[in-house]
Parts: sequence; C-alpha cells; structure tokens
Amino acid sequence: SAPQNFYAEVGGAPVFHGIVHRFYEQVAEDEILRPLYPEEDLGPAEDRLRMFLEQYWGGPRTYSDQRGHPRLRMRHMPFKVGPIERDAWLRCMKVAVDEADLDEQHRAQLWHYMQYAAASMVNSDF
Ligand code: HEM
Repeated sequence: SAPQNFYAEVGGAPVFHGIVHRFYEQVAEDEILRPLYPEEDLGPAEDRLRMFLEQYWGGPRTYSDQRGHPRLRMRHMPFKVGPIERDAWLRCMKVAVDEADLDEQHRAQLWHYMQYAAASMVNSDF
C-alpha cells in the first residue's frame, strides 16, 4: 500500500486537486470515457476520485467518511472497463501526472500505482 507520508511530501491538497482536475479535463474531451459517465456534471465524479486518492496516499479520510469502504472493483462493475477503456483512462491520467509539479521519484511512484490500479479495474476482455 501507499507510503503514508506521500500526501504531505508532495504538497497535499493543492497537488491532488490539480492532478484530478487535469485528469477530468481530459475525460471531458475523451470520446471513449466521456460516454461512460452517467452524469452531465463531472464535478461530483472528480470529487470522489480526488478524495479517494488523497486517502490512499495518506491524506484526509473524507472519502470513506462519505462513501464507506472503497470497493472500487465492485463500484466499477456497472461500467464496461475493457482494455480500450483502461488505456483511455491511463492516457488521460498520464497527462495529469506528467504535468504535475512532482519530483521524479514521486512522479514515478504515482504513475506506477495508476497503471496497477487501472489494470485491476478491468472487468471485460474486450
Ligand atoms: C467512479 C470509470 C479506473 C477510481 C467511476 C465512474 C466511472 C469510472 C464511469 C462513475 C463516475 C462517478 O463516480 O460518478 C473508470 C474507468 C477506469 C477507471 C473506465 C479505467 C480503468 C479507476 C481507477 C481508480 C478509479 C484506476 C482509482 C485509482 C474511481 C473512484 C470512483 C470511480 C474513487 C467513485 C467511486 C464511488 O465512490 O462511487 N470510474 N474508472 N477509477 N472511479 Fe473509476
């Protein structure tokens, strides 16, 4: 699991806000991912991903206070997540992680996690 000091080391809330906001700017323009999101407003989905990542990396536990146990694989079952969706998600996240103000060790650690997490969310062979 994540080192509990990562959140503080990289600069806390503003850094996580920035990464997740940039990710959702990409999602909004993505022809594979955008149709998966049931809501017209991506803001609430952005908040949930941000809160989850903040918690995972040792920040505030607001995600679980509001949403309970993450159970992310289960929560993604309503959406078809095949290799194409996984790659689209990672393509959007790569932009966000590359543009974030992180030192190279933290960037590599975060990117490694994103690839692992995206692979673990796949629930379809096609
Ligand atoms: C929710 C798509 C990977 C974290 C969602 C939703 C969609 C989605 C459509 C519902 C939007 C909403 O919350 O209203 C995808 C796709 C992925 C992917 C296509 C491709 C692999 C990931 C990964 C993570 C993640 C890797 C974590 C690192 C979340 C979280 C929520 C969510 C925290 C909100 C769960 C909740 O509390 O209801 N995702 N996702 N997703 N996703 Fe993903």
